[in-house]
Amino acid sequence: MTNSETKATLSFSDGSASLEMPIYKGSVGPDVIDIRKLYGATGMFTYDPGFMSTAACNSSITYIDGDKGELLYRGYPIEQLAVNGGDFLETCYLLLNGELPNATQKTEFVDTVTKHTMVHEQMQFFFRGFRRDAHPMSVLVGTVGALASFYHDSLDINDPHHREVSAIRLIAKMPTLVAMAYKYSIGQPFVYPRNDLSYSANFMHMMFSTPCEPYKVNEVLVRALDRILILHADHEQNASTSTVRLAGSSGANPFACIAAGIACLWGPAHGGANEAALSMLEEIGSVDNIPEFIAQVKDKNSGVKLMGFGHRVYKNYDPRAKLMRETCYEVLNELGLQDDPLFKLAMALEKIALEDEYFVSRKLYPNVDFYSGIVQRALGIPTSLFTGIFALARTVGWIAQWKEMISDPEQKIGRPRQLFVGSPKRDVPPIDQRG
Ligand code: SDX
Repeated sequence: MTNSETKATLSFSDGSASLEMPIYKGSVGPDVIDIRKLYGATGMFTYDPGFMSTAACNSSITYIDGDKGELLYRGYPIEQLAVNGGDFLETCYLLLNGELPNATQKTEFVDTVTKHTMVHEQMQFFFRGFRRDAHPMSVLVGTVGALASFYHDSLDINDPHHREVSAIRLIAKMPTLVAMAYKYSIGQPFVYPRNDLSYSANFMHMMFSTPCEPYKVNEVLVRALDRILILHADHEQNASTSTVRLAGSSGANPFACIAAGIACLWGPAHGGANEAALSMLEEIGSVDNIPEFIAQVKDKNSGVKLMGFGHRVYKNYDPRAKLMRETCYEVLNELGLQDDPLFKLAMALEKIALEDEYFVSRKLYPNVDFYSGIVQRALGIPTSLFTGIFALARTVGWIAQWKEMISDPEQKIGRPRQLFVGSPKRDVPPIDQRG
């Protein structure tokens, strides 16, 4: 971060105040105006609901160019990482450490993560408190938060070793907890992790194997899942990452912060969109119904949105959506489902939307969630678990951002202000004098 020669000057038309503010330049992307002296100098706050024009931190982890449709993890384009950048654990190492691992570093990292995939045997009893049809995200919020009660040896956020151990534990145990949530929902026994399988193969094994017969890992499907995890690993200061940072700014332990991130990701406007996008495709049902559905979306009173479309930052095609569509082809071809009606419906809907002025004028393009539901459904993952898979993938991004925040000398407890529009001070009337 460097100081720009140019300063920002704020002056009021009535001449009541004038303030000069520094401008900082990052390595790429928009500059920022440092407004920290604004309140002290003017007695006023900025006003920016949804933080459309507000940078809450400086970060070196992920960069998005919304106009170009570009996504970089530590400078590497997502297209390169997802296609020839190795597996998800290599991306995890990159996001956590800033550089891709060499062969030795990768082996050590994989071994460390592999050795932490089991959860405490008592964790299973938390599941029994849930109804079998509980949404997996409610189970994950509960069980991830509960991890803090088992790891008192890694809760000191000011101890770098504790931060490192908690990061590994969370990355390693999320697949186990997500698979346990699935097994619990279908009444099958939990499957222990296996150290002889890769991260994604181990997850597929914990999800789909049973004690009754050997489970054969399909490497094409494992690679597809691994790519889904890479595509979802991190994404700048999105709502759930900002939630993790805000929770962490109070000094909360990492397990509590990740549980908060999971809760935020659950929302249909955010991580819940993949589940909502698949439900939308099932509701549309056939290509013939697309025009009527699009008309509903254009009718503001309907409250209907084109789920899996639009993005706060991408005003071009989400690069992850392109890669997800390619993964769709690979998986459906591998499974002999080339004619999957939902995939054909999704492509028809995408084509129509991308030619429609309503979406073009609002720069609404497919985002990562538009195709991810179709791929996950083809992998045998139930719709209700899609956002749980998103949380599994995003845990490394949340943790990397949390670690960056904790070690940032500028970080303070997050505490936004407000524009108060309620009642000025007034006296409490006796009850017999109230309206
Ligand atoms: C994720 O932030 C991240 O990085 C998130 C994420 C990540 O990796 O962490 O990328 C993951 O959350 C992807 C987004 C998943 N959500 C959805 O697919 C749900 C559908 N999308 C919308 O809810 C919406 O597009 C948002 C929430 C994603 C973005 O909303 P914004 O930036 O606040 O945009 P907006 O609501 O101001 O929309 C601008 C206009 C509005 O119309 P007008 O008022 O100008 O007439 O576009 C319209 C909106 O009504 N619009 C849509 C739409 N999205 C925006 N209209 C129909 N369908 C949509 N999907």
